[in-house]
This record gives sequence, C-alpha cells and structure tokens, in this order.
Amino acid sequence: AFDITKLRQQTGYITMDPGFGNTGSCTSAITFMDGEKGILRYRGIPVEQLAEHSSFVETAYLLINGRLPNKQELTRTSVQLNDDSLIHEDMQIFYQNFPRRAHPMGILSAMINALRSFYPELEDTDPEGINRTFLRLLSKIRTMAAMSYRISRGHKVVYPRADYSYCANFLNMMFHSPVRPYELDPDIVEALNVFWILHADHEQNCSTAAVRVVGSGRVNLYAAISAGIAALWGPLHGGANQAVIEMLTNIHKSGADIEDVVRRAKDKDDPFRLMGFGHRVYKTYDPRARIMKKMCDTVLPKLKVEDPLLDIARRLEEVALTDPYFIDKNLYPNVDFYSGIVLRAMGIPTEMFTVMFAIGRLPGWISQWKEGADDPNWKISRPRQVYTGNIATDYVPINKR
Ligand code: ACO
Repeated sequence: AFDITKLRQQTGYITMDPGFGNTGSCTSAITFMDGEKGILRYRGIPVEQLAEHSSFVETAYLLINGRLPNKQELTRTSVQLNDDSLIHEDMQIFYQNFPRRAHPMGILSAMINALRSFYPELEDTDPEGINRTFLRLLSKIRTMAAMSYRISRGHKVVYPRADYSYCANFLNMMFHSPVRPYELDPDIVEALNVFWILHADHEQNCSTAAVRVVGSGRVNLYAAISAGIAALWGPLHGGANQAVIEMLTNIHKSGADIEDVVRRAKDKDDPFRLMGFGHRVYKTYDPRARIMKKMCDTVLPKLKVEDPLLDIARRLEEVALTDPYFIDKNLYPNVDFYSGIVLRAMGIPTEMFTVMFAIGRLPGWISQWKEGADDPNWKISRPRQVYTGNIATDYVPINKR
C-alpha cells in the first residue's frame, strides 16, 4: 500500500507553508471561525450573543470548561477570583525596579513568568492544582496589569476590593486615588466587559499558537502564557490596537489628507500599512470590529466624549472600502481598528491597550493550553525547514579569515 510517511522519509519531502496560512496544527472544539462569512463563536455560541448577555467571567468559564456555568458555579468562580486577586508583596519590588518608560507588555510578560516561582511546582501536574492556576492567573493578571501602570506613573498601588466585580475592580485599581476617588460608571464597566469578551479567544492566532507551541514542550502554564503575551505585543498582532491610535493621532496632528494616507498604504515601496486593516482569516468585516464600531456610536455619546480620531477612523474606512486595492485583497477593519477609540473613551492610556487585549485573551490561551494538555497524543511542536545554506564547508582558523 502507498505510505505517504514512508515516501516522505525516503525523499525528505517537506510541506512549505510560510506563516502556516494553511496548516492545521491541532484539532480544537473551542472557537469556530468562518472567515468568508465573518462568523465567530465560542463553544458554538455567537460572540454577538455573548457580548450582549454574558459577562467576561462567565465567558472565561465557558471557554475553559466547555459549557456555561450554572448560578452556583459562576458565584464560586467569582469568589475564587476575588480570593486570588492579591499579589505577593515581594513582587512589588520587582515592579519598582523597571525603568519608568518600560513598556507594560514587557513587564507583564516577565511578571507572569516570575509568578511561577511563588507557587508549588506540584500544582503543574495535579488536576486540582491546574484549575487553581487557571483562576489564579485570571485573577492576578488584572491586578498585575493595573500595578504595572500605577508604578510606571509613580503612583501608589491600589489593592483589589472583594465587593467589586472583575471589570469594576480593574478600573478601580487603575484609577482610584485617595484625593480623587474613582467613581465607577456602569457604562464604562459594561464597555470593558464587552471589550474583554470580544477578545477572549480567536483560535490559532499568533499568540495562541505561541502558547500551544511553548506548552507542547511541557513547560509550566505561567511560562506558556508569558510567551503568549510576548507574541501578542507585536504590531501585526495585538500591538495593532496601540499602532492604530498612534496612526490616527499622527493623521490628526499632521492634518494629512485621508486619500493620501490610503494611497501610502497601497504603495509597495512604502512600509506603511493601514493599521487595524486586514486579517489572515477574515476576508470580510471582522464581526468583533462591527460590534466595536457600534460601541463607539453608543459608548462615546454616553460618556460625553467627542473624539476627533473617531471621525478620522470612519473616513479612513469609507475611503479604503471603496478602493479597488482594499476590495480586491479583501482588506476590512479588524478588531483593533475601533477598539482603541473605545479604550481611550474609558480613560485607558495608549501604552496599556495591548495589555487590555492580553487580559481579555487569557481565557482563550488557558483553554487552548488545556485542550492540548488533555490530549493524550499532545505532540511536541517541532516544524521542519527547507535548508538553503552550505551543505558542508571546512572550519577556517581565525588568523586565516
Ligand atoms: N494595509 C495595506 N496593505 C495590506 C494590509 C494593510 N493593513 N494588510 C494586508 N495588506 C496587503 C499586503 O501588502 C499583501 O499585498 P500583496 O498580496 O500585494 O503582497 C496582501 O494585502 C496580503 O497581506 P499579507 O500581509 O500577506 O496577509 P497576512 O495574512 O500575512 O497578514 C495581517 C495579515 C498581519 C493582519 C496584515 O493584514 C496586516 O499587517 N495588517 C495590519 C496590522 C494589523 O491590523 N494587525 C492586527 C490583526 S488582528 C489581530 O491580530 C488581533
């Protein structure tokens, strides 16, 4: 019988798929995407329904456990998240030694990895310990993100409060001050809730693939998540939300003509791209971007925010979506195009945008890692290459080079 594996072993035949555009690296029952139709579902539930009816904690539970929690399960999860929210005091010292201008994504990635050293290794293999680690990470990432922001601004750390919800707690830790108490606005809390739900998972994207690849070597979960945060930082991935606002701000400040900006994005000799546009899987409007755009229309007026960047974004979209270059290449706004405008309206500083994405994506990373770890046939990720270098050459002593 024809044996493809044997044939490949004999011929050294290797599939080349740069960027893994058409390579399935795992089977998964977590997130369904249809890039042609613009569909996104977590465990089968449309993201639009979750954004309207669910909470971020409930959505996290759904992703990790494969089903929606009942009332008791949800309460228990919320209580555990509250119980876990404090950070070991010794970790504050780590934070204080980063240079003032250090990017919070670098700090967060390092700190999540460092968190490992505070908890027993035994938990890595014991199912109950692993569940504890999930909740610990979900809870502490929020405290750690707020801490990194406050310390970078030279402000005192605000401790989490047991009487606040997941989202409200984060906002309070970010913005409360004894001289100017932070007043929780239910519209902002709800906007944050939706923002995090929309970011909660997106199948095998760059950072999730990083978590799976790193995790496949059987490293502990903290290290795998830390790798995911590092991968997310890049401007072609999660870093795009910061890059979009920087692009819109530059257009606003310079008064650049929108048609010229779009022209530049099409110019192959110019490295400039329209940030927040295009997607590997979506060949139509990103369903998350659709919700985010609607949020701009509802949240900004509610918060009485008038942002000139929103008009620029709308105009950019209008021009790009009628341009043959963008039409032919199926380039539409992705989640990052409007998300920064919502975050700005909520008072989140630009350098924290990608951290906000990371907090939202954490349930996805955890559930994807868990799915791999639960698979008895989880193989170590080890892609091959097509070698194009010297096959053999002799060593030349340094004095003869
Ligand atoms: N502006 C201008 N041209 C673009 C853009 C853009 N934003 N995106 C893609 N193109 C062009 C490319 O130049 C390429 O043209 P070519 O075929 O003539 O060479 C074609 O469209 C296909 O683009 P690729 O880069 O090959 O597509 P890929 O799937 O590898 O990349 C990516 C997808 C990285 C998202 C890309 O569209 C991009 O760089 N967008 C801007 C950054 C961004 O918004 N990233 C966030 C993505 S969503 C997320 O990660 C959360």
